[in-house]
Amino acid sequence: MTMEMITPQKVHDVARFAEHLDLHHRIDGWFSVESAAAWDAMLCKQNALRAQGHMLEIGVWKGKSATLMAIHSDPTQEVVVLVDKYLDQPAIESALHNVYANLGDSFQLLKMDSRRLVLDPILVDGFEAFRWIHIDGEHSGRAVINDLSVANTLLSDQGVVCIDDYFNWLYPQVTEAVNRYVREHPDQFALFLCGYNKAYLARPHHAHTWLQYCKEELMGDLEGRGVEATLAKSTLPTEMNTFGMGPRFEGQRMRGPDWAQQTIRI
Ligand SMILES: C[S@@+](CC[C@H](N)C(=O)[O-])C[C@H]1O[C@@H](n2cnc3c(N)ncnc32)[C@H](O)[C@@H]1O
Repeated sequence: MTMEMITPQKVHDVARFAEHLDLHHRIDGWFSVESAAAWDAMLCKQNALRAQGHMLEIGVWKGKSATLMAIHSDPTQEVVVLVDKYLDQPAIESALHNVYANLGDSFQLLKMDSRRLVLDPILVDGFEAFRWIHIDGEHSGRAVINDLSVANTLLSDQGVVCIDDYFNWLYPQVTEAVNRYVREHPDQFALFLCGYNKAYLARPHHAHTWLQYCKEELMGDLEGRGVEATLAKSTLPTEMNTFGMGPRFEGQRMRGPDWAQQTIRI
């Protein structure tokens, strides 16, 4: 068991999330409190790592998850790009105005099918310059493959790609597409975490940072945000180096393989 440091920065981070929850509950959308807590914790970790970069969301709806991205972006040097085929600009701007009175150039709202992103200058201008990418648009296998290939061009070294509805029985093609893309691009993406309906990918050269973060800090960070979860690493890294997280299971905060439940290897 590792000792988790409660730093003044962490105290500040959890207080800000508690304040954000009121806004979270007021915006219509598909973004659970558990996922919001996990995002907030990882975005704070990027801040601690000084990992700067733009943010992209494909599939915005009314701006629920986009608002949390906005809270973490630095408008003086980072841009939040929000793409939706049926963009509800008034609703999204109204949600974002809770965070920034003036949206200025730090937010780009693009009304387009994400498949057209491959034709957009963003792919050249934003090459490996994005630190947070959320794929939550069309849930067909071909759309997910397209969106992952866009993310592959845009993701920075310390960036994270999050894909919605991973392991959701309604959309088995999403899980299949993510697994296939990662398997076919092992030098580009590593699946380091999944849970609460989402998958999290990192660049393989930086996956260790995120695996270590999950092992040492994620559960404490979630608890600070009011979420009691279990983090599972139920096989050896040589077989699959991915954490799973979900509602607290059998009172265990962390759970290793069935045959060695106290052992978490990364
Ligand atoms: C589940 S909602 C997104 C939820 C949102 N992230 C939230 O926080 O509530 C899916 C969104 O994807 C958009 N969408 C569907 N197909 C798309 C496509 N091909 N390209 C871009 N956006 C698409 C829809 O218009 C819808 O707003």
